[in-house]
Amino acid sequence: MSERSAQGSFGDSAKTNGVGTISSEPFGVFEGRQVQRFTLANSGGMSLQILDFGGIIQSIVVPDAFGTSDNVVLGYADLDGYLHDQTYFGALIGRYANRIAGGSYSIGGVTYKAALNEGANSLHGGVRGFNVKIWSATPSVEDGDPQLRLTCLSPDGEEGYPGSLSVEVTYALRADNSIEIHYAASTDKPTVLNLTNHSYFNLAGQGSGSIYDHVLRLNAASYTPVDHNLIPTGVIEPVAGTPFDFTTPRPLGASIRSGAEQLAIACGIDHNFVLDRSGAGNASLRRAAVVHDPRSGRTLECLTTEPGIQVYTGNFLHGDAVLACGETARQGDGFCLETQHFPDSPNQPQFPSTLLQPGESFDSTTVYRFR
Ligand code: GLA
Repeated sequence: MSERSAQGSFGDSAKTNGVGTISSEPFGVFEGRQVQRFTLANSGGMSLQILDFGGIIQSIVVPDAFGTSDNVVLGYADLDGYLHDQTYFGALIGRYANRIAGGSYSIGGVTYKAALNEGANSLHGGVRGFNVKIWSATPSVEDGDPQLRLTCLSPDGEEGYPGSLSVEVTYALRADNSIEIHYAASTDKPTVLNLTNHSYFNLAGQGSGSIYDHVLRLNAASYTPVDHNLIPTGVIEPVAGTPFDFTTPRPLGASIRSGAEQLAIACGIDHNFVLDRSGAGNASLRRAAVVHDPRSGRTLECLTTEPGIQVYTGNFLHGDAVLACGETARQGDGFCLETQHFPDSPNQPQFPSTLLQPGESFDSTTVYRFR
């Protein structure tokens, strides 16, 4: 098993004097190509494992309030788990995060059909989305912080999306125990684009049970209700007086069990929240969400430049995914904070646009910070 090595302290996962490190090892073979797993570590006792298959975050190990370290995301032990995955554990999602109704949309009067993979919907990029691609990976250590740059070229027409699209996603592990994800892309034809990461967090640790006692606060005064196909109705509805009001901290379980029709449709929370960006420029990072787990004392803060966030409470974890820890993942065992543009935006002109034109640079940043 040959370790690849690169600049900085790459090639040695041992921590050194407050300087972050990155190392890699083989993680199985997909369609004849070697998959690598990268381990990033900082001086704050945090480490992060990322696969070049799907840009998947396999684990995030971080200390709790009592000094005990645990993996706080759901993931599989081996590549085989990811090859049979239906959940998108930890994956990079593209070209279009969440749903496009009927897979159909128009750009400049031309109708395009994205691949359908959820009944009449196209979900998370279609049949072969970015979550099953092998990305080109470049590890480095910049100013003491380990980072992994992943690039891919999505060919014109892939999964029904026009334009040859060049994508670059960089994961950086900062010394303050935050993971910064930067997404960049450019196209040679007008296209639509919506990128996110689909990590399922459980701040008490993977396999520790449900996240219903986690307390969520969102910087969102409204959300986008959905129809029975989980497509936004187009209405932007205030959260005030509904179970979706997380403008003050509220346990996820109390909200989920409140009996509202929207929760019954989605089997829990699986909704896009409209982030308050008043006074913030398009490119500025704003706090979107804070989640606190009273058991472990861990807090996760999420900041983003995106206008929306899909809060998903693991409603469709059916008990068929066996986690790396050996436990089976069941409904509610993790939650996702998928920073994004709104679902089905290409068909909903009143939503912020997801159009990317040739000559434009797609630029988006999301930070997950642990305390
Ligand atoms: C997103 C969707 C959910 C579900 C998960 C993946 O969060 O909104 O409905 O498809 O991804 O299982």
